[in-house]
Amino acid sequence: MEKIGILVVSYGSRDSAIIDALARSEEYVPELYIADKQNNPFNLEKASCGGAHAVIPELSIEKICDFAERHRNRIRFGIVGSEGPIIQGIRDLIEKRIKIPIICPTKRYAIEGSKVRQRNMLQLCSPKSNPLFKVFDPVDLGPDPKTQFKDWLLELGGPENAVIKPDRPGFGKGVGVGGEHFNSVEEAYNHFWSIYGGNSERVVIEQKIEGEESSYQAFCDGKHLITLPETRDYKRAFQDDYGPNTGGMGSYKGENELLPFMKPSDREEEIKIVNNIFRHLAEGGNNPELRGIPFYVAFMHSANGPKILEINSRPGDPEIINILPIINQDFVELCLNMIDQELYSVKFKPVSSVVTYKVPPAYGGYAQQFPSEVSREEVGAPLNLQDGYEFAHRNSDNLRLYPGSMELRSDGKIYSLSSRTICSVGIAGTTDEARKFSLLGIEKIHGGGLWYRSDIASRKHINRSIEHMNRLRSK
Ligand code: GLY
Repeated sequence: MEKIGILVVSYGSRDSAIIDALARSEEYVPELYIADKQNNPFNLEKASCGGAHAVIPELSIEKICDFAERHRNRIRFGIVGSEGPIIQGIRDLIEKRIKIPIICPTKRYAIEGSKVRQRNMLQLCSPKSNPLFKVFDPVDLGPDPKTQFKDWLLELGGPENAVIKPDRPGFGKGVGVGGEHFNSVEEAYNHFWSIYGGNSERVVIEQKIEGEESSYQAFCDGKHLITLPETRDYKRAFQDDYGPNTGGMGSYKGENELLPFMKPSDREEEIKIVNNIFRHLAEGGNNPELRGIPFYVAFMHSANGPKILEINSRPGDPEIINILPIINQDFVELCLNMIDQELYSVKFKPVSSVVTYKVPPAYGGYAQQFPSEVSREEVGAPLNLQDGYEFAHRNSDNLRLYPGSMELRSDGKIYSLSSRTICSVGIAGTTDEARKFSLLGIEKIHGGGLWYRSDIASRKHINRSIEHMNRLRSK
């Protein structure tokens, strides 16, 4: 079999799942060159089979490019899933400097770089999917932003119906949601001003949409857009969707390509919307700069059809972890097809998958909210992955474990870091069965005071979303 060198930029478990999908190739012998945010033991092992591993904690694109350049004669292509390097232009840099094709959009198409740009673009190509929104720009708002702010809130129906978003992604100040982060106009204004006033940053204030969320993802070779099965992310930190938003505590893919609360027409509408965006950006139907997963779209299914909460130009974490293990073809081949613009279809196994993350005590404010649940002796103690690995090995058709924010240290032990530590992916014909494996797997990860949500893809949660959607549709 042909050896093939592949550069992977790894941030966390999502990227370990990408690495695993590549390593499982049956058509090629992959040699993995991994630029890693941390000394991830899973990635270290995968890179040791003929590739190389480098820790680049800040994932600086210059350093990643230097690493790739050192191995340029052995690397055929690269793949990047993490938003930081994509927004900074990793593909532009590597393709220009060392001529290795990279799977991810170019900097120009990293559309999550600006929420203002996103909303304005949607207004042109898919206005129906855009919630009502207004941009507050310090450059042209004049001396009295407060009056304009109040008027707009009134138009949206009050602060409880508003969402306040900084233009740039996640840099310090966060998204504020009416009814959660603020209740009165004054509180809303303070939230707005903490972004707009302090940083002179543009702010989008949009209508809060009631509904159920789905994650849309698609592979793209620049000419063809291949929609992946739907997934549902669990963003809130705690059981029953309480607590602050996180990167995602888990996710599921249902027993077919829809989620249980969706109708076939919802998915058809999503595909139509994303195709409109694709045609708008592809300028004539062919734009290789959109290669990768240019559209990971958070849709909110409302009484008035699907609305777009946000678009990212990267795979979802954890959502892509639901998809990679159920792709029924060689993933290296799929990547090469993407580069050659010959990605005509992707086959999937007809199964469900459930991802559950285990995270450190401070993550999502858990230790603060539930101090009595956290064992002092366990916090900071090394992790023991052995039980989990043995169980996954015995159930290899039904379970995968993907280490993320953890590192192997010089004492030979593994420690969790500050972000999502490890995820367990259950795979089975039914969602209940997939969930069972996901939970059994995550329970066998010991140490570090890690915790998890046990209600990802639970019957109760799924039924609640179906009932909620039924209520909204009947209004
Ligand atoms: N699951 C949330 C994200 O990937 O942004």
